[in-house]
Amino acid sequence: MSGSITTLLDGDAYAALLRQDMAKRVAVLASSGRTPKLVTLLVGDHPASRAYIARKHADCAELGILSDDLRLASTTDQPRLMAEIERLNRDSSVSGFLVQLPLPDHLDAAEALEAVSPAKDVDGLHPVNLGHLMAGTPGLLPCTPHAILRLLSHHCINVAGKHVAIIGRGALVGRPLAMLLSLRGIDATVTLLNSATPDLAGFTKAADIVISAAGVPRLVEAAMIRPGTTVVGVGISYDADGTMISDIADDVADIAGACTPRRGSVGAVTRAMLLENLIAIAEADQALSKGL
Ligand code: GUN
Repeated sequence: MSGSITTLLDGDAYAALLRQDMAKRVAVLASSGRTPKLVTLLVGDHPASRAYIARKHADCAELGILSDDLRLASTTDQPRLMAEIERLNRDSSVSGFLVQLPLPDHLDAAEALEAVSPAKDVDGLHPVNLGHLMAGTPGLLPCTPHAILRLLSHHCINVAGKHVAIIGRGALVGRPLAMLLSLRGIDATVTLLNSATPDLAGFTKAADIVISAAGVPRLVEAAMIRPGTTVVGVGISYDADGTMISDIADDVADIAGACTPRRGSVGAVTRAMLLENLIAIAEADQALSKGL
């Protein structure tokens, strides 16, 4: 134990505040007959995906956002999936939609994500939106990287000039997060690592902020960080009896300066960022219709 108090990066509490603010923006849109509508598209019945989607729809209900929970059978083929995405692209009553990942193995996720209209891409995962982020002209942002940045900022943890070590180079979190944090104006110094990086601890010990999105159980241990480091756990995995395990070992909280709680935290903020993208799309549509 370090004896000092570790700040808990409580994403659930922060997300509740964000939802309160967003509900006001939704009410303004609704008053002019432009209530935003989210559609989620799930292929198959991946249990974790069903739980994630249920939470997204619960958030929508709380905010007064319309939402549809579309399900396709696990045997759905690629042409049928592509036809559904095209239909959602054309449906003017849909402000934004997402294809829940992972898709069943026989389907091509990259082709599906690329087929989503970039203007309706609430996930911020379309190559056009990722390309804008890469080019330094960000538009709709990927939700988990955006959530991490906002969660840190809410707790007054400044990333500018700090050394941030990100473990995990996945397309959903690690890689876009590296781009986001290194944007001009955000100004973090980023090291992008992966679970096979030799001497991982050498890098994490040198960092002011360690973010793990690797999905490797207890990958980050107390011995790998300096006292006072900010540690954010995003990656999760499951043991044989289905218990969720964080990338961050329990003993990290004893020496970190700030740390996400053992069970989830970023997830609620990620969902809030999804709705922020949706509301931004609906507000832009409204401005366009008024000729602003
Ligand atoms: N599966 C797990 N996280 C996500 C996400 O952020 N977006 C989508 N579409 N699927 C996911």
